[in-house]
Amino acid sequence: MALRNIRYEGDSVLYKTSKEVKEMTPRIKQLIEDMIDTMYEANGVGLAAPQVGVLRRIVVIDVGEGPKVFVNPRILEASGEQTGEEGCLSVPGKSGVVTRPNYVKAAALDENMQPFEIEGTELFARAMCHEFDHLDGHLYVEKVEGELHDVSYESDDEEYEEE
Ligand code: NI
Repeated sequence: MALRNIRYEGDSVLYKTSKEVKEMTPRIKQLIEDMIDTMYEANGVGLAAPQVGVLRRIVVIDVGEGPKVFVNPRILEASGEQTGEEGCLSVPGKSGVVTRPNYVKAAALDENMQPFEIEGTELFARAMCHEFDHLDGHLYVEKVEGELHDVSYESDDEEYEEE
């Protein structure tokens, strides 16, 4: 297991646009494995490559059904609306209210560069939107309604805490 250092708000790498992955290499496979390890170690439900300092369009998400790898993801459809708490491993100890689509359909490549499509609602839809935004240099704090607040560790299960 190899952990990578998580980059925090203010680090310039988080505000840049990531590059598409053209081919799977041993180095990128290792990155993906490390991202999954790093996500679990931090008790996160999602992590994007720029959060570990690599400007590649790669995201990992686990909303409780095992790790899902997204290479070069894009949103095909989004509908509905959900408003709720969101957090980010790159903004530790904070959360804020963000409105996102309640349904998202995405297309991506898996860790073997095989294309797939996936649909998600609620937490999974929120996680995809949040993580894909990282690939374009956007943090959820730009979208927060009202103020960021300190995370309450008594928060309920509905909350999306990337950390
Ligand atoms: Ni995040």
